[in-house]
Amino acid sequence: MGVTAILGGQWGDEGKGKIVDYLAKDADIVARFSGGNNAGHTVINDQGEFKLHLVPAGAFWPQVLCVIGNGVVVDPDALLDEISGLQKRGIDLNGRLVVSERAHLVMPHHTVLDGLSEIAKGSQALGTTGRGIGPAYTDKAARIGIRAADLSDVDALLPRLESVLDHANAIITKVYGGEALSLEEVFDSCKRWSENLSPFIGPVEHIVYDAVEGGKTVILEGAQGALLDLDHGTYPYVTSSHPTIGGAQTGLGLLPRQIDAVLGVFKAYSTRVGSGPFVTELLGETGDTMRERAKEFGTTTGRPRRVGWFDSVVARYSTRVNGYTSLIINKLDVLDDFDSIKVCSHYELDDEVVWDFPGSAGALERCTPVYEELPGWDGTTAGVTKLADLPDEAIAYVRRLEELTGVPVDMISTGPHRRESVEVRSVIQT
Ligand code: IMP
Repeated sequence: MGVTAILGGQWGDEGKGKIVDYLAKDADIVARFSGGNNAGHTVINDQGEFKLHLVPAGAFWPQVLCVIGNGVVVDPDALLDEISGLQKRGIDLNGRLVVSERAHLVMPHHTVLDGLSEIAKGSQALGTTGRGIGPAYTDKAARIGIRAADLSDVDALLPRLESVLDHANAIITKVYGGEALSLEEVFDSCKRWSENLSPFIGPVEHIVYDAVEGGKTVILEGAQGALLDLDHGTYPYVTSSHPTIGGAQTGLGLLPRQIDAVLGVFKAYSTRVGSGPFVTELLGETGDTMRERAKEFGTTTGRPRRVGWFDSVVARYSTRVNGYTSLIINKLDVLDDFDSIKVCSHYELDDEVVWDFPGSAGALERCTPVYEELPGWDGTTAGVTKLADLPDEAIAYVRRLEELTGVPVDMISTGPHRRESVEVRSVIQT
């Protein structure tokens, strides 16, 4: 029994949703701890294909309690739409979903401010998902956020909402020349959210603590990835939360001793959405082939993802930040048709050899990748479920990733469906 964190090792979109859905068969709780509906987790199982943004990917196993922790920012309308969309497809979350009373809400002014600030930044824009995530975390830190608990007494909330909205409207109108939001309309939304979301709001920290101490199996579902972490990522081209292991603790009120395993999820190559340095990016025909093969278009925004070779400088850094006990390599099948496959072992920067990921975005922009070239494989990995059925070269590729990162691989994913998975060792701590 234990607590296993499933974390994104790169820039998000590593396929964590599929892995959580697969592993949740043995879980009692699946808990999100950071980010918001900027995340987009695709899950394909025997019930169909689902795109989740806030609801944890444990939703498809009836024994699983889905939890949204205090570290998540929750857009109430997005969550309610997701709950009812799942309900229509036979996934009932009543009594199976708890949102922390301490979770901050993504308010309508946050979404407006996200859009306006991106436009104002012009060529310096971050390429956010436009879901209001940065402004929601900004208000949380500025202590002018609205939390799920506030929906339990909307009349008491009104005076604070008025002052919060005055502040937001001043920025919207005076800084950006936008249109002010109406207090009445936002308050009406709060009343509606209070009515519809209240049954899902509860004391998450206590529920999770009691479950862990009672020996239950808990999966911590990461969103985004280590390189998008506000502190550890490629700042300023990051998200505004902590998708790393520290975020899992503060985002759920967990104790360090309660986390038993940390699984780092990586694609067999790299992708990134939005602006920012990406040393192994492929801009030519190889990149286009990889993008099309892998259908690399954002789940949340539909934007084409930037693609590149596996970067072990990134992977070693992300391992250092998160302390992975093992790795999961996703989308190996995307590399099936390549004659040879490159892996970046280290960088060169101003004629110096660089093994450790630089902290400055400027330095990263000047880094060039140094590649090893490994042979591609005859045959296919797509849909393979047993290690022995993988081509030797594909196994050799995965082994090389283990050597370059210093962490054993527990599982390989060979397709989007839950069943297209190869267990290399036992993955969940029992
Ligand atoms: P924000 O989180 O919407 O503020 O966006 C900040 C940066 O993080 C942008 O580059 C986004 O593309 C990126 N980002 C946010 N969420 C995800 C995700 O779930 N997958 C990949 N990139 C993301």
